[in-house]
Amino acid sequence: MKQNSTLAGGSYGTKIADLYIVHNLAAVNGTSRHIYHAMPPVGWMNDPNGFNEAFGKFHLFYQFYPFGAAWDSMHWGHFTTQDFVKWKLEPTALAPDGKEDSGGCFSGCSVIKDGKMYLMYTSVMPDRQTQSLAVSEDGIHFEKLGVVISGNDLPKGCLKSEFRDPKIFRRGGYYYLLAGAMSEESEGMLLLYRSSDLMKWKFVNVIRRDNLTTRGIYECPDFFELGGTDVILASPQGYQTDDWRYENVQSSIYMLGKLDAERGVFEKQYEDEIDGGLDFYAPQTLKTSDGRIVMIAWMQMWQRTFPTAKHGWTGAMILPRELTLKNGRLYQSPVREIERYRWNAVRFANIKLSGETALTKVNGTKIELLFTLELGDAQRVGIKIYKAGEHDARIYYDRARDRVIFDRSRMGIEIAHDAKEKDASVRSVKVDTSKGLLEMRIFLDVSSCEVFLNGGERTMTGNVYSEGDGISFFAEGGNARLISLEKYDIVV
Ligand code: FRU
Repeated sequence: MKQNSTLAGGSYGTKIADLYIVHNLAAVNGTSRHIYHAMPPVGWMNDPNGFNEAFGKFHLFYQFYPFGAAWDSMHWGHFTTQDFVKWKLEPTALAPDGKEDSGGCFSGCSVIKDGKMYLMYTSVMPDRQTQSLAVSEDGIHFEKLGVVISGNDLPKGCLKSEFRDPKIFRRGGYYYLLAGAMSEESEGMLLLYRSSDLMKWKFVNVIRRDNLTTRGIYECPDFFELGGTDVILASPQGYQTDDWRYENVQSSIYMLGKLDAERGVFEKQYEDEIDGGLDFYAPQTLKTSDGRIVMIAWMQMWQRTFPTAKHGWTGAMILPRELTLKNGRLYQSPVREIERYRWNAVRFANIKLSGETALTKVNGTKIELLFTLELGDAQRVGIKIYKAGEHDARIYYDRARDRVIFDRSRMGIEIAHDAKEKDASVRSVKVDTSKGLLEMRIFLDVSSCEVFLNGGERTMTGNVYSEGDGISFFAEGGNARLISLEKYDIVV
């Protein structure tokens, strides 16, 4: 079953990747590099993979192309962390050097069984995508075991060339696996499989099939249980826009309901977008040993131009988020560990906003801001970040539209986007402002911005490439009030 001979501690392909990393690290331009987000040492990063807790630490694998800052033949890069804030680079875990994966080792998950770590990933060939296993005794060096789910295990009418991104979970003494697929009529699908040993898999049922995905499949499914509710995450390509939801060329959705795994039927009770910003895709979760569901995601979007590519790297992960259910909706908050890195607190209270207001010592690009606005009678009230001269990004409440807007159109550079996307600069969400208040918690990390609204009722994530570190608050067309503000430097 072994596909490729392994050197002590890794295949030829992973060794070449690691040598390349060592020799090219110094050539990466640091201008836009984050300080507390996972990002590739060199080259390209997309989806998180194999996110798990094992061997006394958290593991984050990711879609990785070391040899250039654009998507190409996929490896699995690897980080470990104790706190989701500081990331330790580990040897590259998988390279496309096997018989069945010469077209790439695409996304997947990891499972711990009998003290070993198994990676389940998609092996890619020009005409087929199959699901393969690799195993490790130490969670660092992996040996490929070969294909365990092939095109022959697909239900009738599915394309063998679009079948990927396995996510395994436990239920009722079995392993279950969700994967994305596509029907011959180009409908996106989610398929469920069952196994008792990870090696032999049996198709259970189609969990979802529809024609909403106009240009692809449900990529990167994820599954977890939260207080008795079953939650499925998925990242559909070309999902239909629904008013202000799903405006990116590829979206990420969550579905709440009840999964009857034995029959393979998911009774959906609610569905919504996970993040209303510009750069969020392919989320994956783990359950920590202290019982939290923690989600990570790619902090980028497909089919756009990537401003950092010229610096020798592209792509990063969000600051991981804790997920909870509140009023039948998914709430997100940044992992609590980030609060250990707060320094130099600055506090303000009760500031009248009319026009633009800058506050002493409230600036920076590696910071956390937590504030509550009283919306008053202003037409627009919010904050400008990454501000220098004419350039900034804005997050504000717009009364006429009753939405919170994330607007990076003035950041100073243009990001080209897919023709099917309305733009790559402005997104909006609706939140509860019925009490005339809006709370924002914002994390900036050199070129990123993550916004948590009203304690995680909605989030908006977007990268901002600007030279500025200025911050100001503003109210237009009326008055508003900054009820309270905390600002911290994040020092790692
Ligand atoms: C999602 C995705 C996955 C695939 C991987 C390839 O972003 O397209 O479906 O496994 O990226 O890098």
